Order: sequence, then C-alpha cells, then structure tokens
Amino acid sequence: MTGDGTRCVHGGLGTGAVGEPVHPGPVLSSTFRLGLPHDAAAQDFYGRADNPTFRVLESAIGELEGGSCTSFSSGMAAIAAVLRLAARPGAAVVLPSDGYYLARLLARDELAPQGVEIREMATAGSWNDQVVEGATLVLLETPSNPGLEVCDIRAIAERAHAAGALVAVDNTTATPLGQRPLALGADLVVASDTKALAGHGDVVLGHVTARDPILADRIRIARTRGGAVPGPMEAWLAHRGLGTLDLRLARQAANAHALALALLTHPAAQDVRWPGLPGDPAHAIASTQMRRWNGVLRFTLGSTRQVGLFLEASRLVGSATSFGGLQTTADRRERWGDAVPPGLVRLSAGCEDTDDLVDDVLGALDHIRA
Ligand SMILES: Cc1ncc(COP(=O)(O)O)c(C=O)c1O
Repeated sequence: MTGDGTRCVHGGLGTGAVGEPVHPGPVLSSTFRLGLPHDAAAQDFYGRADNPTFRVLESAIGELEGGSCTSFSSGMAAIAAVLRLAARPGAAVVLPSDGYYLARLLARDELAPQGVEIREMATAGSWNDQVVEGATLVLLETPSNPGLEVCDIRAIAERAHAAGALVAVDNTTATPLGQRPLALGADLVVASDTKALAGHGDVVLGHVTARDPILADRIRIARTRGGAVPGPMEAWLAHRGLGTLDLRLARQAANAHALALALLTHPAAQDVRWPGLPGDPAHAIASTQMRRWNGVLRFTLGSTRQVGLFLEASRLVGSATSFGGLQTTADRRERWGDAVPPGLVRLSAGCEDTDDLVDDVLGALDHIRA
C-alpha cells in the first residue's frame, strides 16, 4: 500500500487517456442523455442517483477507508441515513451520550416516536453486554466531539456483533487517515467532511462507507430516495481538499501537540485533553487504534467571561464552530447545549506556524489572568 500523502494526492483519479484533463472539473449537469428506448441505461442518467464527480470523491475516500463510500449532502444527512436503517418498532439504537449533539436529538425526535428504543452510553463508559443487548445499531464516536474521549472500537464491535447489532463509527475527528474503523471491525463509517476532510471551511458534506457491498447498496438507495445528495461543486471542492489532507493533518497535529503542552503549563487552563498526549486518559486505547493524531483538543477556562477575554485577546484564534479548517478556531461548547462546563473550549488547531500559535494562545491566556 502506498503512503497517506500519495493516496490523498492520487485518490479517485485514473491515469486518463491522452488529451483528457489532468484536473477534471465538476460535472454540473443534473440530467444525462438516455438514448433511444432500447438503449441500455447508462450509469449516469439523473443527478440525484449518481454523478461522475461524486464517484471520484467516493472512490478516493473508499480507498482510504477500505470500503464502498456514498457521499451525502452533510454529515447529518449521512448519520440520518444510517439511523434510519435501524428505524423499526421494537428496535434499539445505542448512541454516545457525549458525542455530536444533533445525532442524539435526531434519534430522540425522529426514531423514538416510531417505537425505536434509544440508549445512550458515554464514549469512555463501560460497554458491557447489557448496553448492546437486543440492539440493531450501535453508533460510536471516537474521538468524541467535544470531549475527545475514546472507546475501543474492536472490543465494542465484537460485543455488538455477538448481540446481532450493526456497528457504525463517526470518524469525523479522526479522519480517514487517522483511523480505519472498518479494519477494526465496524460495519459502517459515517463522517462530516465539512471538517478536516474538505478542510477549507467552504463545503458542507458527509459520507458513509460500508464494508459489505449489500449494506453499501442499501445506503446508496437510501440516499437516492431520501434525496440528500451533495452538489457536484461541493463534491469537487471536497476532493480537491482531500488532496492535501495528509499535509494539513501533519501541521494541525503538530500544532495541537505544541498547544496542548503549552496549555498544560498555564494556570488559566484546566483539564487539557488531546489523545496524542502520553498522559491523556484516552491515549492508551487511542494508540492501539489510531494511525495518527489530529488538530482537535479541548481545555477548560474558569467561566464564559474568561473564554470571551481569551478570544478577545487572541489574534490568531477565531471564534467559530466547526473544526478541521486551515485557521485555528475555538468553540465554547456549552452554548450548543453540550453537557460540559461553561468554560470548556474545543480548539481546532489550524495550519499556522507553530511558534506563532503558541505565543498567541499563551498571550491570550495571560490576558485573562491580568
Ligand atoms: C462528530 C460530528 N459528526 C457529525 C457532524 C455533522 O456534520 P455536518 O455539520 O456536516 O452535518 C458534526 C458536525 O459538527 C460532528 O462534529
């Protein structure tokens, strides 16, 4: 297998014939020529069913994740398609109690009224047989957003499979380079590619990758019927972003590492968490299943006001939700309803120079103390 950088740069692109573009543009047509009534249907006939630009992106992501990928109009559209697989009366779905909040709200508001039992379990909690007993679907999120807790995908997948459940892993924070859930025993990967995969803060997109071709077909049919297809332009931008994921992730992880070490030395920041730190409670499991680290960390300041002072004083840390972009951003997660302290900040380290970022963040923390 070639390295991460090579696979990101070449993924989805064939060698092409003489005269074909080296950098093909997006195929924006919503309709494709059908031919005469007796002509066999082509793969492309209508833009909600398929599109050549989707296939380029899906082939690149699928190769990195080791399965068959279907792109969606957003990460939530991808999660919704997976949750709906399990939606029948009497079914039970297990979700992380500390993962991305909208997945929980969607399950509670849409699945529970259809007679689906919704069980919630902390990512770093005790995943015993009782938790998965009788479940049809177990959705994990590791590292979790915003807590950056980690669970053992392989062990939970074994348990869940023994109970007859499908296992899906939200791989958004890890990215396809950071973790390969299908190789660890999961059936499905879901992700928001709005984050590091597309990586430039200009695209909303998601995907589901499946190991089993029959399951992959069900997902694809669900997309066609549900209609949550990406725009070809978004798919094209995401593929362009994916080309530099290896480079961006390397800088973001180096910056997150330096920032985590700096934050540990500063009295204003408490409870610094980044799975790549050897002393982090998640490090031991994360090291066994993650291939590399990423730029997302968290820490807690004393109050909402302190977060405001920090953001005001920083020149480089933007106040924004989402993560995985070029610029460093910070998000006070309690404002979205996460059950976290008011001063908890999820910080997404960008691609700035490490020294600039560390100086800026330490200076902004000093400002709080002053
Ligand atoms: C872990 C995780 N999963 C899914 C989503 C939803 O993705 P999107 O915003 O692309 O719909 C998010 C969004 O923040 C997320 O952080």
